Amino acid sequence: MPRVFKAIDIAKEEKEVMRDYLDRHMPHLFCPDEVKKGDKFTVKVKMGNEYPHPDDADHFISLIQLWNRETLLAECRYTSGAFGHKPSHSEVDFYLTAPDVSMNLSAMSVCTKHGLWQSEDKPVKVI
Ligand SMILES: [Fe+2]
Repeated sequence: MPRVFKAIDIAKEEKEVMRDYLDRHMPHLFCPDEVKKGDKFTVKVKMGNEYPHPDDADHFISLIQLWNRETLLAECRYTSGAFGHKPSHSEVDFYLTAPDVSMNLSAMSVCTKHGLWQSEDKPVKVI
């Protein structure tokens, strides 16, 4: 079983020291807090809020997944060079239709050198 890095598991002092390392590997979710049942909405997942991640031949973001609780909803794969071999904020937009019940979204990402990373949860209320 791979180790999963989560923001919540890392001590505050460690977060300051490793701020750039943590930020560039952490998927961030952007979507509405509330959606209407049956409506289409967009969930953006962006890698790193401030610091871009390398796009080297042996070190790049290879996978971004979107989850609703324990259910995988969608995923996006990258190969090295997708961002011109320059540091970048990998990002992807997922288009979903709001289900009958509220959701608790999260994202997972894979860095080919630094492993598996999990975002903070993003609750989405369905009205
Ligand atoms: Fe990395």
